[in-house]
Amino acid sequence: MVKPVTKAVFPVAGLGTRFLPATKSIPKEIMTLVDRPLIQYAIDEARGAGITDFIFVTSRGKSALEDYFDRAPELEHALEAKGKDQLMQVLEDTNMPSGAISYVRQQQAMGLGHAVWCARRLIGDEPFAVVLPDDLIAADEPVLAQMIEAHNEIGGCMMAAMEVEPDKASAYGILDAESRDGNVVKVKGMVEKPEAGTQPSNLAVIGRYILTPQVLENLHETGRGAGGEIQLTDAIAQQIGKDPGVSGLIFDGERFDCGNKGGFLQATVAFGMARDDLGPEFKEFLRGLKLD
Ligand code: UTP
Repeated sequence: MVKPVTKAVFPVAGLGTRFLPATKSIPKEIMTLVDRPLIQYAIDEARGAGITDFIFVTSRGKSALEDYFDRAPELEHALEAKGKDQLMQVLEDTNMPSGAISYVRQQQAMGLGHAVWCARRLIGDEPFAVVLPDDLIAADEPVLAQMIEAHNEIGGCMMAAMEVEPDKASAYGILDAESRDGNVVKVKGMVEKPEAGTQPSNLAVIGRYILTPQVLENLHETGRGAGGEIQLTDAIAQQIGKDPGVSGLIFDGERFDCGNKGGFLQATVAFGMARDDLGPEFKEFLRGLKLD
């Protein structure tokens, strides 16, 4: 029987250089999409998938991120005194139960694989999820919930996958699929950023994973890979061909790459338009724009 997934790791120790100068003092994950920091969307997705333990891998300069999940007593009292119940509820939704969040530190940004490995003592001997808050996915059913549901059936390691245009494949890790059953593909290989025209498929790996504890052991042995960083995909690739092996779930949803400025802007427009309170006026504004 597959053990249930109740823990999720949020690696947020990266330098966020693509957002300089903002990230000189603001963690990328605190940057605001409409009125909520990126990290809130990731947490809500994980909560919606039944995750109960939230493990953040942080670094120097990320204290704003830790504070964000604390209660804000002064603010709460002020809102209560003014009878602002709706705003009280907005704040309430950001609170987490005591003990649900843990933080571990990655002392040096040595790559995503290293960041996940830093959380090994908190993960223990059970399958766990990894959520990259940069990858924001608008979906009716949270993508992590879609993955956990599929994982409960097959176990092993699972990566979120999405179809990309052939000319975009060289920007992603691309799956080499052995077989496909509905939305689940069995993986026989992975190629990181393939040269144009050499990609084995059009299925790109996105920042949601469900991993087995074996991957943590693999990470322990994994040396620095591409870019001099310890790569998570190298440790996952070692599980290919084992039983249970590695699969990809082609999720239902629309993904925005909020790790770069263009993707963040697109997400801001899409999420702004989708909001009941802001959408109608915002759409009118957009319609009136002269685009040339
Ligand atoms: P990115 O590749 O987006 O790197 O990391 P980055 O540092 O955040 O951003 P740029 O490229 O400099 O603009 C993907 C995810 O892995 C985490 C990041 O915080 C992000 O969530 N990460 C990356 C770590 O936690 N530690 C690392 O050493 C590297």
